[in-house]
Amino acid sequence: MLFSAVPQLAKRKEAELIVFPFWQGAKKAKPAAVLSTFSSSVELPIDAKDFTGKQGETLLLYIKGEKEKRCMLVGLGKEEKLTVESLRVAYSNVAKECQKKAISKINLVVPTISELRHIDVKGCLKGIAEGILLTNYCWGQFATLDEETVLLKSVSIIGIRTALLETLHTCEEIAEGVYFARDLVNGNADDITPEYLGKTAKKIAGKFANTTAHVYDRKWIEKEKMGLFAAVARSSVNPPAFIVLTYKGHPKSKDHTVLVGKGVTYDTGGLNLKPTGSMEDMRQDMSGAAAVLGTLATAASLKLKHNITAVIAATENSIDSASYKPGDVYKSMAGLTVEIGNTDAEGRLTLADALTYSVKKLKPTRLIDLATLTGSMVIALGEGMSGLFCNHDKLSKGLLDASGQTSEVLWQMPLYAPYKEQLKSDIADISNIGGRAGGSITASLFLEKFVEELPWAHIDIAGTAFARKEQGYQPKNGVGFGVRLLIDFFQNL
Ligand code: BES
Ligand code: ZN
Ligand code: ZN
Repeated sequence: MLFSAVPQLAKRKEAELIVFPFWQGAKKAKPAAVLSTFSSSVELPIDAKDFTGKQGETLLLYIKGEKEKRCMLVGLGKEEKLTVESLRVAYSNVAKECQKKAISKINLVVPTISELRHIDVKGCLKGIAEGILLTNYCWGQFATLDEETVLLKSVSIIGIRTALLETLHTCEEIAEGVYFARDLVNGNADDITPEYLGKTAKKIAGKFANTTAHVYDRKWIEKEKMGLFAAVARSSVNPPAFIVLTYKGHPKSKDHTVLVGKGVTYDTGGLNLKPTGSMEDMRQDMSGAAAVLGTLATAASLKLKHNITAVIAATENSIDSASYKPGDVYKSMAGLTVEIGNTDAEGRLTLADALTYSVKKLKPTRLIDLATLTGSMVIALGEGMSGLFCNHDKLSKGLLDASGQTSEVLWQMPLYAPYKEQLKSDIADISNIGGRAGGSITASLFLEKFVEELPWAHIDIAGTAFARKEQGYQPKNGVGFGVRLLIDFFQNL
């Protein structure tokens, strides 16, 4: 447990640092909490105008005669502009400064809640906790480093009732799910194989009550006539795995959400090989799988009252003499034949069979898939937003609300029917490519063929799953996108 609660300043224990919040004022920073005996320590730098309380600003002071050697001022920006997201960003900076100074135990004075008109106490604590937690992560990289990164181990929040600890601990559970997804994305593709994802699903089932995992092999995949998934999986020495992980949090209810995650553990492009510069990050191509596994584990650990199944058609998209071939036609589990226009459009093939399996065998009431599906999604929306394609208004509203709450930003995109024309094939029912124009839309229209009439949302996370540089509380490399979004969605379902 990272967080603890202390009702009053006087009751706090010793720590390496105490954090005080400040609003940005018209002329100078204003304390956002009662400073008490600290007022003498912090008066000077504020008057000297080198700390204005701007959102995310921090200033470190060395102090005497207190339970901490250091005091950090953190700017929350203008009081009337405070949001959960601005708190995340501000307290992410606190965590970053602590990392720089190798500080692991801090006291943190909560902003005075009665003054916060825009968000309630819980929202305020969520912002603080998530900003710290999402930053307090270090991926054990492969480089030999001189010093180990020191992470925060203890954060005492001063000025809150202990009853509010539950809110903080929920944030901790969710952050565990995000770390879990990040670790899976960051690991070597040689290690995070389809089999490894299968074992991970089984581990989750072993750890949490009401969860069960089934992992199926190549033979089973062929027997189930998953011709598209089997085609993609033909060329790799690492065998495919079809993973079904179920959590029954509400056994009496018929409501059942199936989360399908793209689980291409490495995407070379296949015979339509990716060029240098496009392949190097392709261990991220199982980020959808990581997100749905992380979400399921978190839902189970929070004991959410929902029935959820994660489905992953896990495979590499490799290249060798057994590779599936551009120009050939393969038959899907649904019976639809697909002409391969490009073996690099493999994600939709694996997802198609995973969706068909879900529709036919799992009795879902809604389907949500997460996939690093198209490069064109990155061109359309950049790296800060994921595209949401949805055939059902209530479902899209739920997801967009969760996007607003979590700042895992979704932008709704059209399932524009006339573009289906672009997927026509002369020799098969459909082609797996639809040309350069509207590439993420045609990819979604391809998936739509396999969801029958069910409420379905497809989230293209090609731009958001993996970051080339750190930004705010999002680390470089695997972001863990989708876990917070989906958990918030379920919490409000
Ligand atoms: N895995 C890629 C999409 C991708 C690109 C994910 C960049 C993350 C970052 C996907 O399998 C792919 O290669 N898509 C092709 C489709 C095309 C051949 C129709 C693409 O987007 O270029
Ligand atoms: Zn590809
Ligand atoms: Zn791919």
